[in-house]
Amino acid sequence: MSEAATEKAVDAAIEESAIKMRGTDVSVFYGEKQALFDVNLDVRKNSVTALIGPSGCGKSTFLRCLNRMNDTIDICRVNGEVTLDGENIYAPMIDVVELRARVGMVFQKPNPFPKSIYENIVYGPRIHGQVSTRAEMDEVVERSLIKAGLFNEVKDRLQEPGTGLSGGQQQRLCIARAIAVSPEVILMDEPCSALDPIATAKVEELIDELRVNYTIVIVTHSMQQAARVSQRTAMFHLGYLVEEGDTDKMFTNPDNKLTQDYITGRFG
Ligand SMILES: Nc1ncnc2c1ncn2[C@@H]1O[C@H](COP(=O)(O)OP(=O)(O)O)[C@@H](O)[C@H]1O
Ligand SMILES: [Mg+2]
Repeated sequence: MSEAATEKAVDAAIEESAIKMRGTDVSVFYGEKQALFDVNLDVRKNSVTALIGPSGCGKSTFLRCLNRMNDTIDICRVNGEVTLDGENIYAPMIDVVELRARVGMVFQKPNPFPKSIYENIVYGPRIHGQVSTRAEMDEVVERSLIKAGLFNEVKDRLQEPGTGLSGGQQQRLCIARAIAVSPEVILMDEPCSALDPIATAKVEELIDELRVNYTIVIVTHSMQQAARVSQRTAMFHLGYLVEEGDTDKMFTNPDNKLTQDYITGRFG
């Protein structure tokens, strides 16, 4: 191989190793209706990827492809390939429970279990066999709450119901619950849409901190939020991926007119 070719191959390998998840020709159908059309999108390691676009364009559908949450919708069918560290997550031998421990999810509306704060967090690690002794459970609760920026607020009431917390605290509890099983990727579907601006700012700050240790994909209808928290942005429209790239570029100099129109508030 020539020197230039070697260099190119090395660059390509480095780029490849920065990819945590990859969707290739992902198409999704709900019954007869096609919701996503041949989407090709990479999710980079230790960065935040924002999925934007008008309501109904397929953001949540794509997000759910990444941990096979669409499997839970009877009429939903997924074509194409999604890989995690290069491995097809739709392959027959994949254990979906294990997959969802590696690719966790936080939903739009905070949904703590109707149990104590403590129980909300140890539930996942326990069913995945990651903890068994009381000391291990205490440790995972404390560590997860610290990472979610919630420990100081709740440390004196770990046995109280999670549902008794404020909306913003509940959402950070759900993030702590997701973190507790040591996922590699965290999917968030409009995690701040039910929160006030102060709680939203806290969650956004948290997302920025979490990026150091996790790979994050966030659906948001807020352009400002996408610009604030993400490094990469993917713009969807009517089930198609219109454009994706560095967030800075997407918001200052997008290639596509649809992206331009959407980020400047001309539709959506
Ligand atoms: N469970 C479902 N059953 C049938 N159609 C659905 C379902 N979920 C989403 N869709 C349809 O798929 C398309 C994309 O939806 P969705 O992924 O929720 O968009 P977004 O998150 O961008 O608002 C929409 O037309 C929506 O009506
Ligand atoms: Mg959605």
